[in-house]
Amino acid sequence: MDGAAFVEQLKAENEALLRKLDADPGSRAADLGPLLKMALKNEMEAAEIAAQWVATTPELDAKLALARHAGDEARHYELLAAQAGALGVDLAGFDPLHPPSPVLEYLRTLETTVERVAAALVTREAMGARRNAQFVKLLEAGGYAALAALYREVINPDEERHHQMGCEVLARLAATPEAQERARRAAARLLEIGDRVRTAVMEKTGAACVPGC
Ligand SMILES: [Fe+2]
Ligand SMILES: [Fe+2]
Repeated sequence: MDGAAFVEQLKAENEALLRKLDADPGSRAADLGPLLKMALKNEMEAAEIAAQWVATTPELDAKLALARHAGDEARHYELLAAQAGALGVDLAGFDPLHPPSPVLEYLRTLETTVERVAAALVTREAMGARRNAQFVKLLEAGGYAALAALYREVINPDEERHHQMGCEVLARLAATPEAQERARRAAARLLEIGDRVRTAVMEKTGAACVPGC
């Protein structure tokens, strides 16, 4: 199987697991503060790991994709922090990187470009975009129009582009059965850990969906 066919197969495999994120969140009111802090944490962790990898990823197309990714996620953080301030969410003393989430801890263990791109760009960005689409529904139902518009018009188109950039790079790099197996394992592990974190946050906050990145 060539790299392009492999990426299509991986996306289909991911899709089977991502579909459950599409459950309608309903209009149940949720406390926005903890959800916004989780969104900020996700954005900052995505920026942090992508930036860390730029220097240790030799392939130019992957390096550029990660650098763009890092800059975009930093911008998402700033835009969301401004919205949080406008909504009266207190971020004093909030440190988005401590403690690191299990997702960030896992990503930090990845040494090869195929694993990094498969987990962080192809899979995590697809997961984030799907979660955010649900979060937008929650925000609209709650009357948070400006925040919903930020997700719809800026953040989600960026997450979709990150996913696409990852797919293009992975199609070139995942050209051998060994590389494909590494990519598949990293993607599956990312989804498994991401799902565990999401379930824990939903139980803790009572929210019907959680934002991602
Ligand atoms: Fe983001
Ligand atoms: Fe992203």
